[in-house]
Amino acid sequence: MKILKEQFESIAQKFGTPLYVYHAEKINEQYQKLVTAFSILDTQFFYACKALTNINILRYIKELGCNVDCSSINEVKLAILAGFEPQRILYTSNGIAFSEIEEAAEIGVHINIDSLSNLEKFGKKYGHSYPVGIRIRPNILAGGNLKISTGHDGSKFGIPINQLDKIEEIVSSTNLLIRSLHIHTGSDIKDPSVFVKGMEVLFELIPHFPELEVIDLGGGFKVPYKPEEKETDVILLAQKIKETFNKHLIAGNKKFQVWFEPGKFLVSECGFLLTKVTVLKNAGDIIFAAVDSGFNHLIRPMMYDAYHHIENISNPTGELKVYTITGNICETDTFAADRALNEIREGDTLVFYNAGAYGFEMSSNYNARFKPAEIIIKEGTASLIRKRDTWDDLLKGQIGVL
Ligand code: LLP
Repeated sequence: MKILKEQFESIAQKFGTPLYVYHAEKINEQYQKLVTAFSILDTQFFYACKALTNINILRYIKELGCNVDCSSINEVKLAILAGFEPQRILYTSNGIAFSEIEEAAEIGVHINIDSLSNLEKFGKKYGHSYPVGIRIRPNILAGGNLKISTGHDGSKFGIPINQLDKIEEIVSSTNLLIRSLHIHTGSDIKDPSVFVKGMEVLFELIPHFPELEVIDLGGGFKVPYKPEEKETDVILLAQKIKETFNKHLIAGNKKFQVWFEPGKFLVSECGFLLTKVTVLKNAGDIIFAAVDSGFNHLIRPMMYDAYHHIENISNPTGELKVYTITGNICETDTFAADRALNEIREGDTLVFYNAGAYGFEMSSNYNARFKPAEIIIKEGTASLIRKRDTWDDLLKGQIGVL
């Protein structure tokens, strides 16, 4: 990490700011943690690529041996373009038109269905010929905050567990082949017992689906956003999951494969957003430092009150002072309030940590600003993997009729 930090200033100079920087080897490090921890179970990992879909990231993750989880048909197509074989692609759909599921089935990927309506259509069209997964809403509240919680009573995701009778009706009347049960209760889950709770719910359903082979526990592992925070203890998690299987399977003796769909865990920490301080404004009791970015590039602080660690790499030994870091968007876009940072001067480079997951991917052209460039550092070499937007990009697709 230290070498990487020392590169930041020269990278910012070479490629300009704002700039997303990804460190390939960090992704590998995270993936190996998962593989090692879960070697005690029959496990498959599907990278939740909604976190970051740059084709180079997809290719790198494919080379590591990881599979991919998609949340739209276009993500499925990107995964195919990156070289994933259909059997290494999972499409966890929600709220989508059935035609999109048909398209995914034509490609031949694994599919998780999250509504009775699409389940019935799927059953009528494919019957027993296409193994499928069902996304269950277990009615468990989990995740870092409500905006990223998905498994609770009231959440739009999955088929509520209390509608089991309706699921069974569809499965038997259309002779569906249910291969997997899926839950994803939220993002930023530190406590392994949340996954165990989800498994307990699924175990109640297992006897109803005799052809089941897979228990898919979704993603949501926590990553440390603050320096003092800890990520989900995946070794402990694997042990707990194994124990839970042992507890439940003594009677049936059936073995299941476990699937996970990590997004943040694989790509959050690999990413950094490099920005330049454009304006320092001493407003009496607050010193604002505005950077050449905003929530159009990194929306997490404004959208989820998310904490992103920030460092002033241009003045690492400068006196600590308290700042409010903002963007240059014509709307309140606070990245961090009352944050102690080494003294900031206009022109300094500020680095935002944990910018790999849901950073560039959620960026926009708000205020008609360009999206940042993206680079990857692999084996010490920095390569451009997406050009900064240009004027043409802003006008692309627009049709002048007036
Ligand atoms: N599987 C499913 C079905 C999901 O919906 C998600 C994330 C994941 C896996 C991956 O979750 P992860 O491992 O990344 O926590 N934009 C928000 C997070 C939204 C997560 C959406 N679903 C954020 O920046 O915190």
